[in-house]
Amino acid sequence: MTKIIPSGQTLGASIEGIDLSQPIGSGDFDLVLDALGKHGVVCFPGQNLDAVSLKQFSARFGSLEVNVANSFQEPGHPEVMILSNIVEDGKPIGIADAGQDWHTDMSYSDTIAFANVLYGIKIPRRDGRPLGCTEFANMHAAYDDLPDEIRTRLDGATALHDFNKFWEMMRREKGSTRPPLTEEQRRRKPPVSHPVFLTHPITGRRVLYANPGYTVRINDIPQSESDELLEFLFAHQLDPKYRYKHLWNEGDVLMWENIGTLHNAVSDYRPDEHRLIKRCQVMADWIFDSPRAKAVGADRQFA
Ligand code: SIN
Repeated sequence: MTKIIPSGQTLGASIEGIDLSQPIGSGDFDLVLDALGKHGVVCFPGQNLDAVSLKQFSARFGSLEVNVANSFQEPGHPEVMILSNIVEDGKPIGIADAGQDWHTDMSYSDTIAFANVLYGIKIPRRDGRPLGCTEFANMHAAYDDLPDEIRTRLDGATALHDFNKFWEMMRREKGSTRPPLTEEQRRRKPPVSHPVFLTHPITGRRVLYANPGYTVRINDIPQSESDELLEFLFAHQLDPKYRYKHLWNEGDVLMWENIGTLHNAVSDYRPDEHRLIKRCQVMADWIFDSPRAKAVGADRQFA
């Protein structure tokens, strides 16, 4: 029997009784979508997946992204990205610094991300305490609490999102050894605009769709006004009251929806404290076309 156990916090629930190594039925599929709408982040503990089953489960929710700039992929399964600080024979086996600050995946892309599905294989611990947690912030709640004046000013506004913003921040502030993006890489990932407020395709509610990782500008207003508004939005959306922290266990499958949440991979572990996670990125193509999005009036990404 499938059981959903809410965290009791602003986001988060645990889902028990589904074996993700097997194809899931339509009842469980609907239940997972409902839970994502209601809780934003769900954990399926005690799973045992290979690359194929991780991919098969993830692909039920939309197309899977293949990150062409990333060479850390499961052999034969380019949709499965390897996140890890492990070095074997002098060679890193995964991306060591993915997502280590607040952001929303793929807001810099025309087709944004719907969901992430991460499978925890090796979790660092110190004194029995798990390290390398993943933190989230609730953008349904952040939108609901916006002052009326800000909501009115931003109604119908769009914002520009740039892949290079996060990349450069990692180089400047986090000591990342990644080289600057080449002209060609920047050309292939030009900044894109999205509405500042999106209608969520599961809940039909409005969410604040901006994030400190990639959002660079509110369009069509003076730069100083954009700077002031973004400073306000970034501080507002990261208020601790909207935050939730997932502490990992080996065997967890953690799934979250990116449209109504931000996340941050906390890098509080040393190079000798090993973390290994496999990850699929589900694009928001199917979800905006789904009967559910139609039913809640959110059947276009950029409505
Ligand atoms: C990410 O998808 O941004 C990485 C999250 C994590 O490693 O905890």
